[in-house]
Amino acid sequence: MPTLAALVDRVAATLRAAGIEYARAEARLIVAAATGQDRTRQLAEPDRPAEAEPAMALAQRRAAREPMAYLLGRREFFGLEFAVGPGVLVPRPETETLIEAALEAFPDRTASLRLLDLGTGTGCLLLTLLDHYPNATGIGVDRSATALRWAAQNRRSLGLEQRALLVQGDWLDAIGGPFDLTLGNPPYIGAAEPRDPETRFEPEASLLAGPDGLDAYRAIAASAARVLRPGGLIALEIGASQAAAVTAVLEQAGFVTRRRTDLAGRDRAVIGRRRD
Ligand SMILES: C[S@@+](CC[C@H](N)C(=O)[O-])C[C@H]1O[C@@H](n2cnc3c(N)ncnc32)[C@H](O)[C@@H]1O
Repeated sequence: MPTLAALVDRVAATLRAAGIEYARAEARLIVAAATGQDRTRQLAEPDRPAEAEPAMALAQRRAAREPMAYLLGRREFFGLEFAVGPGVLVPRPETETLIEAALEAFPDRTASLRLLDLGTGTGCLLLTLLDHYPNATGIGVDRSATALRWAAQNRRSLGLEQRALLVQGDWLDAIGGPFDLTLGNPPYIGAAEPRDPETRFEPEASLLAGPDGLDAYRAIAASAARVLRPGGLIALEIGASQAAAVTAVLEQAGFVTRRRTDLAGRDRAVIGRRRD
């Protein structure tokens, strides 16, 4: 049996050979998941023996570019832990931009907000906001039954069953209103755009949106004003080059818009207020 230190070396070498950038940091996570010995223990007791096979099996999956979050079965989002796995998009750090926008737009944490999350996936947007607004209620819509199963698991583990309704449907088709805030991170990658290899493991329906990547915005904008209360907000994540196009789509649908950048300074969201 190798030592923990030797096992970390072996996993890191496998990941490095596959071109993974932060091979050693990821190796420590994989060894922790496979052996139950976290980074602190790995450093404190490097000579402790550890079974190699489970860690090397995970290393092979990661070397094939399966997302680390699928291997670990979880991903942190805005300080909360979400269960995640095949069939649902891994929550991305840039999507936290929508949470920041919502917290700024509705500073009263005691407000009884009604929220709608379009394309809820793991539920990360809806459930994070419900966690921050204890009197809010909301609906998460997704067309994918698998995604909704992950969302339901997260709703349960966050104790939000009483305030979050999960609905299978095509964007706003089966949705009434009125909502104070409609938000969403719709698919927005164009058919010919380059993609990270990890995205091959994620559902295409969570990523691709027609030839120009704008199909979902057009569909959502067509009905969004109907479900918002007067003065209500829509906040949509966008790809870094889509700000002008999504702004135009929302303005034509009757919204006054502004943009919001992510931590890297890239346009990351368009926020629209319903014109009354
Ligand atoms: C980019 S993922 C976002 C998931 C999650 N909100 C997040 O930010 O991690 C887009 C989600 O939209 C869902 N979706 C795609 N087309 C849809 C449609 N026509 N109606 C409802 N949901 C749809 C996908 O199944 C996927 O879960």
